[in-house]
Formats: sequence, C-alpha cells, structure tokens
Amino acid sequence: MASKQDISRVIESTDIVALVSEYVNLEKNGKNYKGLCPFHHEDTPSFIVNQEKKIAHCFGCGGGGNPISFLMQIENIDFNTALQKLAKRNGITLSEEVQTKESNTLTKYYKIMQIAKSFYIKNLENTDYGLKALQYLHKRGLDDETIKVFGIGLAPNQMDSLYQVLKESNFLELDCYDVGLIDKNDKGYYDFFIKRIMFPIHDENSNVIGFSARYFEQDKNQPKYINSKEGILFRKGEVLFNLNLAKGEILKKKRVILHEGQMDVIASYRSGLKESICTMGTAISLRQALLLKKYTTNVVICYDGDKAGINASLKAIKIFKQAGFNIQLVLLPDGMDPDEYVLKYGTDAYYNYFENNKCDALKYTFKQAILNKDLSDALVVDNIKNQIFELLNQENSSTKEEEYLAELSKVLGNSVEAIKNDYQKYCNLYPTKNYVDNYEWLEKKEEDLSSKSTVEFNNYEIRLFMYAKSSREKAMYIDHFLNDRFEAISKKNMDIWMCLINVYYERYQEFNEEKFVQLLDEDSKLYYRSIIEYLHNDSTPYTDEDLNACLKKLDEKKYDRKNEKIDLSIKKSSNAEEIFDLILKKFKNKKIKEDLKKMRRK
Ligand code: GTP
Ligand code: MN
Repeated sequence: MASKQDISRVIESTDIVALVSEYVNLEKNGKNYKGLCPFHHEDTPSFIVNQEKKIAHCFGCGGGGNPISFLMQIENIDFNTALQKLAKRNGITLSEEVQTKESNTLTKYYKIMQIAKSFYIKNLENTDYGLKALQYLHKRGLDDETIKVFGIGLAPNQMDSLYQVLKESNFLELDCYDVGLIDKNDKGYYDFFIKRIMFPIHDENSNVIGFSARYFEQDKNQPKYINSKEGILFRKGEVLFNLNLAKGEILKKKRVILHEGQMDVIASYRSGLKESICTMGTAISLRQALLLKKYTTNVVICYDGDKAGINASLKAIKIFKQAGFNIQLVLLPDGMDPDEYVLKYGTDAYYNYFENNKCDALKYTFKQAILNKDLSDALVVDNIKNQIFELLNQENSSTKEEEYLAELSKVLGNSVEAIKNDYQKYCNLYPTKNYVDNYEWLEKKEEDLSSKSTVEFNNYEIRLFMYAKSSREKAMYIDHFLNDRFEAISKKNMDIWMCLINVYYERYQEFNEEKFVQLLDEDSKLYYRSIIEYLHNDSTPYTDEDLNACLKKLDEKKYDRKNEKIDLSIKKSSNAEEIFDLILKKFKNKKIKEDLKKMRRK
C-alpha cells in the first residue's frame, strides 16, 4: 500500500489543469476550467476542473475526482498504476514499498510474455532444432546481431514445452491462456505456437504483447505466419511492429517508414533505416496513424511493389491524408518487397534506392492510375481522371493543378482546355472528398437538430440564396467559397443550392423565380417557399459586408458541424477505442476552428 504521505505529495504536485487538458479541451471559466465531460456524452460542458482544489468533476455524471482517480478512470488503470504514473510525471520518488509492488494488472501478463520470449530465444540458440532455424534465418540475410536485436526465437517441435516452463514458474494456466500462449482441448493444455520462428511483438514501451510466428520448413499446407490472437494484450488494430525500437529514430529523422511485413522492417533496419515499422498483416487504421502522430507527421510508405502492395498504398494514402500526414511513397521495382530487394542487391543498394526514389502521393497515384491501362476504353479513362481529380481537389495547389492537368492531357491525348473543363466539372460535383459521407450524415443530422439552432444557422445560410439569386456571378463566387465548406450546410439547403448552381445556372444566365421553382422537386419546392417567406419578414439589408459575414460564419460552423457529426457517432458507438478515436478527432476540429478564428482576427 502506498503511504498517505506519498498520495498527498503526488496529488499536491499535479497540475490538474494540464493533466486533464491532455484529454479534454478546457476553457477558462472564472476560477475554474470547463469542458465536455470525457466520461459521458454531452453537448454542453459540465466537466469542471479546479486547480487549487486539485479536483476535476462532472456535474452531469459524477465522473472525475482528484488527479489519481481522474487518471484511473480515463486510462482505465488501477490506483497504484495511476499513482506511479503521476509520480513519474511530477518527478516524485515514491517510497520503495509502492515501487516494487506489482500493482499493474498487466504486469503479470507482461512477465509471462517475457518468459516466453526468453524461452523461445534459448531454443533458437541452444538446440539442434534451433541450428536448423538459424540456418534459415542466415540464409535470409539476418546475422546474429540482428536476430538478437529483434529478440527472434524458436518454438520447438513439442506439444507443451512452453507450457511446462510456465507451470514451473507458477503462473496460472488461465493467465497464460489469456495472453494466447497456450490453448486447451479435452486432453489438457498445450502450446499455441509449435515449430515456428518466433518474432516477438512489443508495445511502444517494449513490453512483449504478442508474437508473429513463421514456418521455416517445407510445410506449404500451413499459413506462412500465425500471429497471436486478439486478447488482453494483443490488438491487431493497434499494433505497430518495431515502434519500440524505432521511436527514437523517428523523432530524430522526423519521419516514419511504413512497411507491409516484419521481414521488411528488419531488412530496412539492417540497411540503416531504423525508423521502420509495420502493421500485422492488416491495412493501417486511422487509429494507428493517429498513434504515430505522437512522433511525427511525415510518413514514407514502402509496401510491396506488387499489385496488392500498390492497392494497399492507395488506401494508406487516404488514411494518412485523413490523419493529416505529409506522405511520400517508394515503389520498389519488379514487384519486390524490401526484404527481397535487400537479399538480391544488398543493404547499401536498398538504402540508395529508397532515398532516391521517394515521390509524393499525387505523383504515385498518377503513375499507378495510368500504368498498363487501356486508354481506348472510355470507362477506364473516366476512372483515371476521377482518381487524379480527387487528389488534386484535396491538394488545393494551383501549380500542381497546372502540372498534373497538363500531364493528364498529354497521356490521354486531350487538349489541356478539355481536361481543365472536366476537372472544373468534377470540382463542382464533388466539392469535397467526403462529400457523400457528409451528405449521408446531414440526412441523419436533420432529425437531431433542435429547431432553434436550425433557424439560427439557416438565417445566414439561406441569406446566401438571396445573394446567389441577384446574379450568376455572385452565385459562382459563393459556390467557389462553399466548395470545401459543404459540411456546414444542411441537406435541404444543399439540395436547393445544387439545383441552383448545377442545373439552373448551367442553363440560364439570369435568375427567374418561376423557372427556378419548376426545377425543384416537390419537397424542395415547399421548403424553398418557406425560406422565401421567412426572408421576406427579415429586414436586414443585403450588402457585400453581410454576404462576407454569412460566409465567415459558415466557415466556423463547418467544424462545429463536423463535431456534431462525431458526437452522433460517439453516442452510437459502444466501442471504447472507436470513441477514443472520435474524441481525438473532435479535439483536432476544435483546434482548427480556434486557429481559424485567430487568423481572422489578425
Ligand atoms: P516473408 O515471406 O517472411 O518475407 O514475409 P513477408 O513480410 O514478405 O510477408 P507478406 O508480404 O506475405 O505479408 C506481410 C505480413 O502479413 C507479414 O509480415 C505477416 O505479419 C502477415 N502475414 C503474411 N502471411 C500471413 C498469414 O498467412 N497469416 C497471418 N495471420 N498473417 C500473415
Ligand atoms: Mn518478404
């Protein structure tokens, strides 16, 4: 047990506002700080933090407490773990008793895994069977030093040798089962991994959380790799292989390299690219990308050079874009993966190839889009255009637009003007990449909105119609502005807006109320009439300043809307990890909105 003294020293030394701010966006509110409660869903903040009293408390759900209990709840850890974390954070040395106590519930699992890792290593080093496995590893180019660095081992060709060792060490069978090392049938317990080369997988703090196990004998009927099953320690969607060894290098080189498999990471490592990591045979998730963001926002994706690798790269580009990364890619020749390249040409050649062949996401996508394509097929051509247009649209750089539209015209044999025309059409049609998603959301959103707020933002939203009706030119000006702000507009208004810009003004130069209303469907007609009536009773004069004010408000609303959308997802989700991701996103949006506000005030 921790002494009372220890506890109060830790509490006293904690800057609770700073602590809570790592999880909650706080705003000063008189003597206190206020924010949205991280323990339950709410729209108006009732989570109060008081620096002097060292208390964080939610008046909605009662969550929170002193720094220790706050940390316990938010990180889902026990008292002593929270105490130790805070002590470490505040530079306080606890009395020895607490330090040595095995308080962390995960500790026992880590211990089991550590023992398993050592057991596998011993088997590789000191047995006849190990010799065979070592030969295999050497043949693949791994020297003893590398084998040691990565803690590679061997699961022997016996039913239950690890089980016996773990039992000898007095671990509970159930605990060993929970971490996926042993399994059970009606005859009893047996080892989960047999006859395989064992790659330990660590979390970023170097705790062993799982294994990836490769067969190395001519046993083609088995899967090449077997990974630990999902469990208390191992969560595929979170694991980043080698992050523990790579993190220092990632910080130093200000970039992370993402590969497909652990043999590729090891090959990269041997070549001097120690900032390499991979996922466990799964596509990179947004959550993983966000975990990496703690270290860097620059990623170089170097997947296998085959078709699957290229497709996975295109997907990864989208994820990293969403997470806000700068992305580069390296495409290896002849469908090779890094491990094959290194084996064939050596580590230096690989290093040089890697450093000299990085390209940005746009270039990569462009190259892939046109590679081996039948350009006489109109559908194929449309597809190529859409792929490039989508990225260009996001990139929002006129020099890149110039460059790639010209390039595209060369490749497709169309005039630059024709391509530019198509691009403009595309941009009008798909104002943002997530347009479809947003649209779906807006539909749901419509039901959730309180009538009050609808009227409130409708006011400056629907005033835009009046400006757009005054001239085609103005409508285009507003539409251009709206392009990346469509999330800020309600679905009903959006329907009418699309009709006005993409249908009406495509045909007519001047606005005519009657002709326009004819183009609307029945629902929209009714709604449109109610807008007009509403505005009829609104005496605010229409001026250029007012137009710009309306647009500016939309700009801010966009991020509120994004967060309302996230709130909806949080409400629906029962998956803690997903909720965590969503909360991270919310914070990011709030930050962007605040930055926008600041910029405008300058
Ligand atoms: P080597 O053949 O040993 O060089 O592996 P690799 O890295 O070239 O493997 P590959 O590109 O085929 O797969 C990439 C990653 O996917 C591997 O590192 C594994 O983590 C995972 N993986 C590959 N095959 C399997 C499998 O059969 N089962 C499972 N669960 N994962 C696999
Ligand atoms: Mn390989």
